[in-house]
Amino acid sequence: MADKITDGRNRIISGKALDEDARIEASVRPKRMEDFIGQSRVKENLKIAVDAARNRGEALDHVLLYGPPGLGKTTLAQILANEMGSAIKITSGPLLEKKGDVTAVLTSLDPRDFFFLDEIHRLQPALEEILYPAMEDFRVDLIIGQGPGARVHPYQLNKFTLIGATTRAGLIMAPLRSRFGIVHRLEFYSAEDILQIVQRSAQILGIKMDEEGAREIARRSRGTPRVANRLLRRVRDFAEVRAKGHINNAVARDALAMLGIDEHGLDEVDRNLMLTIIQKYSGGPVGLNTIAASLSEEEDAIEEIYEPYLMQLGLLDRTQRGRVATALAYKHFGLDEPRRQPGLFS
Ligand SMILES: Nc1ncnc2c1ncn2[C@@H]1O[C@H](COP(=O)(O)OP(=O)(O)O)[C@@H](O)[C@H]1O
Ligand SMILES: [Mg+2]
Repeated sequence: MADKITDGRNRIISGKALDEDARIEASVRPKRMEDFIGQSRVKENLKIAVDAARNRGEALDHVLLYGPPGLGKTTLAQILANEMGSAIKITSGPLLEKKGDVTAVLTSLDPRDFFFLDEIHRLQPALEEILYPAMEDFRVDLIIGQGPGARVHPYQLNKFTLIGATTRAGLIMAPLRSRFGIVHRLEFYSAEDILQIVQRSAQILGIKMDEEGAREIARRSRGTPRVANRLLRRVRDFAEVRAKGHINNAVARDALAMLGIDEHGLDEVDRNLMLTIIQKYSGGPVGLNTIAASLSEEEDAIEEIYEPYLMQLGLLDRTQRGRVATALAYKHFGLDEPRRQPGLFS
């Protein structure tokens, strides 16, 4: 699993938050739209939708947010609810097991309330079907009684907003996707945006850090706020022990090197992944399942956490026949690219 944290390997990038991390994540999480840094196009669009819905006194249209983990989907859902002055109920696809679990949440929503459904791609198909009339007509069909005597009882819901979040937009089928009026993809953040996020978090947490220290953390944060906040915390630990708590560039570099995070923010798993493709499979193409098996990692973790950033850096390509290391990847690892036979490389 991506969130295994007990295997002794470096899990800063992919790990599930420890309690302390989770507490810090909550304390630095932006609560209002103006505190949410970056993603300006998404933010502008959402602001307009919120203003329009508020002026009309209506519920906000249903929103689907997708993109790699740690980019702010949950944060945005909570901000939207705050901006609308609405309550938000939060759950996750895999946690909903029975139809009753879904209808219980839906029937408990007050007008304009938010229902945040994380990992919506992992919702069972039978439960997904309950969402269709709920989203479209604000209706659920309650089944009263059992067996041959069971009756279907249509129930009118309050007008609510469903916010779906997913790391895997490709797994959301058309019938569900088409019922979201607002669909946005979150992108990796620019170095400047991440710098601002690191500085904002440091200020909230009372961490002493100069700009070059912050830049170093930002540069290695994979364009991902969650990673930035975690690295900040680890670097702070290091600084407290080695540098009287003050983070400058040298302290940040030493701390990050000790954590095994390289100049581009790659960790051990990223490096093993790339080197497996390059050295064991001559640069690819090689199938995801083969890579997962040789790394003892879950396919999902590779696809959701590692590959998006490696592709963003231009080190990895996904082709029809499998994963391929790019020329840049050879350069990155200081290796010579093999001559490939023409036609072999799709
Ligand atoms: N745009 C942003 N500005 C500042 N902090 C952010 C932003 N987006 C995310 N964060 C921080 O990163 C953490 C992870 O964000 P989260 O919303 O949980 O990501 P996701 O749900 O996409 O996995 C949050 O706790 C928040 O502190
Ligand atoms: Mg989330």
